Amino acid sequence: MKSFIPIILGTGRKGSNSLKVANFVLKEAQSYGFDSQLINPRDWLDSPFTGEMEEEKRNKLSEIFQKANGFIIVSPEYNHSFPGELKLLLDNFYEEYKEKPVGICGVSIGMIGGARMVEQLRLVCLEFSMMPLKNAVYFSNVSDFDEEKFKEPLKNLFDELKHYCEKLAK
Ligand SMILES: Cc1cc2nc3c(=O)[nH]c(=O)nc-3n(C[C@H](O)[C@H](O)[C@H](O)COP(=O)(O)O)c2cc1C
Repeated sequence: MKSFIPIILGTGRKGSNSLKVANFVLKEAQSYGFDSQLINPRDWLDSPFTGEMEEEKRNKLSEIFQKANGFIIVSPEYNHSFPGELKLLLDNFYEEYKEKPVGICGVSIGMIGGARMVEQLRLVCLEFSMMPLKNAVYFSNVSDFDEEKFKEPLKNLFDELKHYCEKLAK
């Protein structure tokens, strides 16, 4: 059976490069053999101030996260950390994440590819009892996004994610 891996976008910024990257990651995840769907905070959060969600939406997203075998988060680095809306979205849930592997993809127009954000987000994921992967993908220089360059690091992340999904399914 295919593992179900939602891909959570870290920003709601209009014109975001991370959305481009997340769509690429979604396409690659599906051709790798994961069942997947993109979760964009814009489609789910009702209040950008508190992260509140309508009950119906919250229940729907809770179901999606409960069904997930693991997660991929694709997030830009804003001032060396993750965007507030990502934290607000994640904070709506807790049990849904328990003991599930999570792969993080950093996005940046600079050379470091969001590495500082990735390190900080791993700590947050630990508090959710998720299992942050060793592999991460650093999407650097995304204003001139070259998909080919990122296919191999992404496959390494998928391999590790699949490994844990299979182990945990036993
Ligand atoms: C509020 C804000 C803070 C940012 N801080 C950083 C940063 O700390 N490091 C970095 O490499 N890029 C930073 N950037 C630039 C992003 O790398 C760039 O916007 C890139 O396209 C990814 O973000 P996006 O998905 O919003 O487009 C910042 C951008 C914004 C809007």
